[in-house]
Amino acid sequence: MGRIEGKVCLITGGGAGLGRADAIRLAEEGGKVVITDVNVAGGEETAQMAGNDAIFIKHDVTDEDAWQKVLAQTASHFGKLNVLVNNAGIVVVKTVESTTTEEWRRVHAIMTDGVFFGLKYGIGLMKENEDRNSIINVSSTAAFLGYPPFFAYAAAKGAVRSMTKSAAIHCQQSGYRIRVNSIHPGGIATAMVRQAQAEGGTTPKPADGGNAAPPGPGLGDPEDVANTVLFLASDESKFINGAEMLIDNGTIIQP
Ligand SMILES: NC(=O)c1ccc[n+]([C@@H]2O[C@H](COP(=O)([O-])OP(=O)(O)OC[C@H]3O[C@@H](n4cnc5c(N)ncnc54)[C@H](O)[C@@H]3O)[C@@H](O)[C@H]2O)c1
Repeated sequence: MGRIEGKVCLITGGGAGLGRADAIRLAEEGGKVVITDVNVAGGEETAQMAGNDAIFIKHDVTDEDAWQKVLAQTASHFGKLNVLVNNAGIVVVKTVESTTTEEWRRVHAIMTDGVFFGLKYGIGLMKENEDRNSIINVSSTAAFLGYPPFFAYAAAKGAVRSMTKSAAIHCQQSGYRIRVNSIHPGGIATAMVRQAQAEGGTTPKPADGGNAAPPGPGLGDPEDVANTVLFLASDESKFINGAEMLIDNGTIIQP
């Protein structure tokens, strides 16, 4: 019996990086996984890697109509939705002065609007079932920091952190069996971090062997995030709601 046996999980941006690791880990523990992404080849590959009847649906999280279709497809294929991981994201390495209006709007379309649509329509579907349900919003340590090279990114992740808390309390006050939490990874070894480093953003360098073993902060592995997502998806975390979970090996609380 897996830790989330039979729960239906939707992961946005699951065609690579953290979303892929989440999909594989959730499926390993019995989750029925729907992977969505604009990257069709990556998404289909993740579905194959995850197994356990995982499916891929092409989905741009900025598209409100597409959200409704993806959730309807999830319900018709697996019968319900229990876990939503709002993971899709991009990074733009620009300061407040160099960010263009177009870049600002693109970052917010994906990470602010995308999470808003996921919450709005995901809650609408989840509240229909009698199970315990969980929404996990992927924010970042950037939500807590003055982070000059990641101006629009940090602003969007701050919005994700805030939306999480209002949605969590809304669900509770409405009597829905839906918890909403945010996770805040630091530097994790994915293509996004490689891009940020190549474009001059200051992100942690890998510790020995790229492995963030204590004590040094270093870069984490996608599995470090996936194991946290699994815990929040499962009923093991049933008393954790509206919380913000750092996954950064103590990086941002250092004096
Ligand atoms: N890697 C890190 O160090 C790190 C740290 C903190 C937070 N995060 C967050 O974790 C999430 C995943 O990041 P990652 O490192 O795996 O990045 P990644 O670039 O490896 O993967 C992101 C995925 O999102 C998809 N995506 C982009 N735009 C999309 C859209 N409009 N609709 C649907 N899918 C879209 C991409 O195709 C890609 O498959 C992001 O929200 C990111 O901000 C990452």
